[in-house]
Amino acid sequence: MIEKINSILENINNLKASSAEEVEQIRIKYLSKKGEISALMNEFRNVPADQKRELGQKLNQLKNAATEKLAALKEALSANAESAMADIDLTRTSTPTPFGTRHPLSLVKNEIFEIFGSMGFTIAEGPEIEDDWHVFSSLNFPPDHPARDMQDTFFISRSPQDILLRTHTSSVQTRTMEANRPPIRIICPGRVYRNEAISARAHCFFHQVEGLYIDRNVSFADLKQCLLYFAREMFGPETKIRLRPSYFPFTEPSAEMDISCHICGGKGCAFCKGTGWVEILGCGMVDPNVLEACGIDSKEFTGYAFGMGIERITNLKYRVKDLRMFSENDVRFLHEFDAAR
Ligand code: DAH
Repeated sequence: MIEKINSILENINNLKASSAEEVEQIRIKYLSKKGEISALMNEFRNVPADQKRELGQKLNQLKNAATEKLAALKEALSANAESAMADIDLTRTSTPTPFGTRHPLSLVKNEIFEIFGSMGFTIAEGPEIEDDWHVFSSLNFPPDHPARDMQDTFFISRSPQDILLRTHTSSVQTRTMEANRPPIRIICPGRVYRNEAISARAHCFFHQVEGLYIDRNVSFADLKQCLLYFAREMFGPETKIRLRPSYFPFTEPSAEMDISCHICGGKGCAFCKGTGWVEILGCGMVDPNVLEACGIDSKEFTGYAFGMGIERITNLKYRVKDLRMFSENDVRFLHEFDAAR
């Protein structure tokens, strides 16, 4: 019997298990009621009295060794499982997540923000659904101006007062001047609406950025310098600007600004129709009537304003040929701007 005990002990010492099932098999083999150690316990009854003491100790040793071994195997298994888990990076995504890209108009708008932001302009916004006062009357449009016509403007209601979709972001000038005292230095981005047939070159909605600076002693020279800085930041340091006299009801004098065509460098190409210049914005000195309409003393304060189409600037930068591309959400078009992000 002593030999049996020794050989089982040796077996137990060499035991290995790689799964919970194997551990359970081992328990059944040695420690269950029908297991090898239990069998020895039964045999022990028939052992002569003079050997009982020695064999009894041996048997107890064997049973303890088996119980400890079993516990050790279980422990090792769960430690293994934990370290296997530690190798799995739970923060990793199983498949790459495709990110969207910035819309070209947003790219250009953000660039415009950065350039004017560096000159101290802050962003102001206003509603797209407006009244006649903010879009026309406060901005010195005469009552019979064609822009008030049904042909150009989307009216929402006509009584008791005209409510309409704003046709330009100049309405935000009025809102800001009504609510703030000079100095005012803002740019106003936003969507505008006009009743136009949709084609490659016209759309019933598009986007503008308006600029406004009101303070004491603001001059046309300040306007010109500000726009020259903008043009060079936006289109490169070689860019030239040219101001042509023009007319807007809300500015006096008024001008339209051209930049040297950055596609041909001013030599003349199909894009600039051979002239070397492309128009990019309207501007001027804020008409005193507008200042007064907004409660600003036109003897004390002067200011300049300008307005540009974001689609126009984007077309110049990226040569988008069809305006409809901007709102059709064709991902093949949108993905062309991945790199520009
Ligand atoms: N509101 C004009 C438009 O929609 C653009 C514009 C021209 C805005 C001259 C201005 C400006 O502030 O001074 O065509």
